[in-house]
Amino acid sequence: MSERVLILGATSAIARATAAAFAARGAALYLASRDADELQRIAADLRLRYDVEVRYGLFDAEATESHEAFFKSVIQHMPTLSGVVLAFGYLGNQQAAQDFSVGAKVITSNFTGAVSILSHCANYFETLQSGFIIGISSVAGDRGRQSNYMYGAAKGALSLYLQGLRNRLFVRGVRVITIKPGFVDTAMTFGLPGLFLVASPQHIGERIVATLGKSADVVYLPSFWRYIMLIIKHIPEPVFKRMKL
Ligand SMILES: NC(=O)c1ccc[n+]([C@@H]2O[C@H](COP(=O)([O-])OP(=O)(O)OC[C@H]3O[C@@H](n4cnc5c(N)ncnc54)[C@H](OP(=O)(O)O)[C@@H]3O)[C@@H](O)[C@H]2O)c1
Repeated sequence: MSERVLILGATSAIARATAAAFAARGAALYLASRDADELQRIAADLRLRYDVEVRYGLFDAEATESHEAFFKSVIQHMPTLSGVVLAFGYLGNQQAAQDFSVGAKVITSNFTGAVSILSHCANYFETLQSGFIIGISSVAGDRGRQSNYMYGAAKGALSLYLQGLRNRLFVRGVRVITIKPGFVDTAMTFGLPGLFLVASPQHIGERIVATLGKSADVVYLPSFWRYIMLIIKHIPEPVFKRMKL
């Protein structure tokens, strides 16, 4: 049987490229996000290009009370899922997010909502004793910086959550992979100052799917970000706190 993959946040540029890379190898897809029109367009395009089954449904990461019913309906329409890709995220504006009424959205969109839906996915794959969960976190979660620490904190928490999930599910035959992209050319980063070494969503999407054929648990994309973050993580705090980052 061909792969069947649920993609959460499927309208994101990185998710679209990931969906295309899965479809290119014959996977059936279930696409989910808040934008039904865009989902319909993406699904039609993928069916046409790759001749694969593509379904879609509405999903809001912030509406955690709806997640159980959402996941049940996915399983009804696409029984025996092979895996899930969690791609949704929200960068927001750090200045604005310093007010908690705004910051809470950053935390829910990147972390609380992710934990909520992944708890249903994790229980499902644990019972199945197979499957994969690919979570897109960020290098921003590796160290808190004044320019984006609300987003960074939410992504750092997501990375830690995925690490715990991996530790829980490994013995059950479920693979949990943490993806940490650096800067990627998408709507999220459009017009932001200070970007460097910006990767294309296509490159990231193809590498995400390729991780399934490798053994790595935590994958920096492009891979040189592992070394950049190694340096950044090792700057002593008395020096780091004086830097404008
Ligand atoms: N771009 C980068 O440089 C970069 C770097 C590191 C990590 N990342 C991470 O990579 C992932 C994809 O990013 P991208 O740059 O491709 O993003 P993007 O093109 O800006 O798209 C963001 C996606 O998140 C979805 N989303 C936001 N809030 C949501 C919510 N409450 N419920 C459901 N979906 C929601 C949006 O879906 P709808 O609006 O259609 O619902 C959209 O599909 C994100 O997790 C991001 O944090 C990106």
